[in-house]
Amino acid sequence: MSEETDNLNGFEAEQASTPRVVVLISGNGSNLQALIDAQSYDELGGEIVAVISNKADAYGLKRARDAGIEAVALPHREYDSRDAFDGALIKVIERHEPDLVVLAGFMRYLTPRFVQRFFGRMLNIHPSLLPAYQGLNTHARALADGVTEHGVSVHFVSEELDGGPVVVQAAVDVTPEDTEESLKAKVHSREHLIYPIAVRWFLEGRLILAAKGPTLDGTPLPSQGLRLSHADAAEELDEDLSEEDDA
Ligand code: GRF
Repeated sequence: MSEETDNLNGFEAEQASTPRVVVLISGNGSNLQALIDAQSYDELGGEIVAVISNKADAYGLKRARDAGIEAVALPHREYDSRDAFDGALIKVIERHEPDLVVLAGFMRYLTPRFVQRFFGRMLNIHPSLLPAYQGLNTHARALADGVTEHGVSVHFVSEELDGGPVVVQAAVDVTPEDTEESLKAKVHSREHLIYPIAVRWFLEGRLILAAKGPTLDGTPLPSQGLRLSHADAAEELDEDLSEEDDA
């Protein structure tokens, strides 16, 4: 009977079809905040229905609660094995029936079972221009190598750590004055710009992980993803959704 009511009620019907997002974090959650902000401006293309952290004291859990989003602490230390933890995590995630799982500073190695469960509908953000600097301490390693360009990548998650198909990248210049902290801050500001865009592309059905790799609006993406300049990103955020744009 409620179905009949729903059909007569446009608002409820629209609510029922809003894509659902679960975000996994371990710490500060500044990328989570960028996603929450995009949602509040109606620019995310969906709704963050839960935030899950493997650390109970993660600041990102407070960000979620402040935004009225369910915040779940699932401390990995309470589980005997990786597999037991990932099994519990899968259960909590699936309870929220997400269309997309977003890793935003989730500092855990994921078991193949977990990756397979959400393959093609799980994104991660990594602070380097992949495939360069997979793993940790990316800013320090980039500085030590004397590179002139560094940045951030959003990619689909595969079983290879930081090795899944790249969707989008943003670059920053590295100057002789840069320190690890300054470089991290520059990259972070790009992260906050491009992650909501990639999430929105996915939730709008524009970004798909096809058999041969990711496509945007049906067009295969280059192997290192699309490079978004600051201007591109700004334009993307202002874009009229009805507009056709071959980004
Ligand atoms: C970011 O640098 C992200 O690229 C990496 O983890 C960090 C998370 O930062 N995966 P925050 O918690 O979103 O502030």
